[in-house]
Amino acid sequence: MILDKFSLKGKSGIVTGASRGLGRGIATSLAQAGADLVIVSRTKSVLEKTAKEIREFGYRVIPVVADVSKKEDVQTMVDRAMEEFGEIGFLFNNAGIVRRCPSENYSEEDWDDVINVNLKAVFICSQMVGRIMIKQGGGKIINTSSLIAVGGGKTIPAYAASKGGVAQLTKALANDWAKYNIKVNAIGPGYFITDQTEPLRKDKNRYKELSDRIPLGRWGNPEDLGGAAVFLASEASDYITGQTIFVDGGWLSL
Ligand SMILES: NC(=O)c1ccc[n+]([C@@H]2O[C@H](COP(=O)([O-])OP(=O)(O)OC[C@H]3O[C@@H](n4cnc5c(N)ncnc54)[C@H](OP(=O)(O)O)[C@@H]3O)[C@@H](O)[C@H]2O)c1
Repeated sequence: MILDKFSLKGKSGIVTGASRGLGRGIATSLAQAGADLVIVSRTKSVLEKTAKEIREFGYRVIPVVADVSKKEDVQTMVDRAMEEFGEIGFLFNNAGIVRRCPSENYSEEDWDDVINVNLKAVFICSQMVGRIMIKQGGGKIINTSSLIAVGGGKTIPAYAASKGGVAQLTKALANDWAKYNIKVNAIGPGYFITDQTEPLRKDKNRYKELSDRIPLGRWGNPEDLGGAAVFLASEASDYITGQTIFVDGGWLSL
């Protein structure tokens, strides 16, 4: 039956950047749909609190402190998921950062940090988990891209390059790994209320400019990503690969 295909009962996977913001919303939705999870971020106290709260839905939630831009941490994350579950059904590459500064003054350090976390780490995590998925006969990889993969935003050159890169990497991995039954897709959020976008909401003019352009008339809440996240992690999306599903209140249609 069709609704059974959306269930994640008996499935397990990893969500990076899951301690707060969109990742927390995604992990909560995946757990509500029945998945066991390894959730990942760098700040232990926040991650453990989130794990405790999500565990209340009745499934296993294992917090693993790791920096996705460090290969040895990614190995720890993957090893822990394998120890706990014996397989990795899905990987949600969601961890991301932004540094804002006009392009003419943008520092090399900010460029490297953003590209390392938002783009290189997506490849490293995908490759490490992809090798396991190849052996186990398939899996799902979902990347958090952005509507900034389409428009370039303002004062965020590294972020725009990284998210455009994530959209292309999603297609490249989907092509390489279709023969192994690994589906690789992305979610492209619009403007959501999280720590990352706090400076935009504090800037009255920018906040108005952005808000006025959203056809659905409001910013997204992390729960608004739940439907697309569960869909892309579940059997219901088994014939979809290489796509970005935009969850943007209509922004890109305008
Ligand atoms: N908010 C939006 O409107 C929006 C729109 C489009 C796309 N996105 C994307 O959605 C994702 C989540 O954004 P958000 O708004 O939820 O941001 P956020 O509120 O700042 O949360 C970011 C999460 O990623 C973790 N993280 C950051 N760097 C990490 C690293 N190196 N290793 C492991 N974990 C790391 C953070 O925890 P620690 O700091 O403790 O590590 C936190 O859990 C990002 O990829 C972002 O670019 C956001």
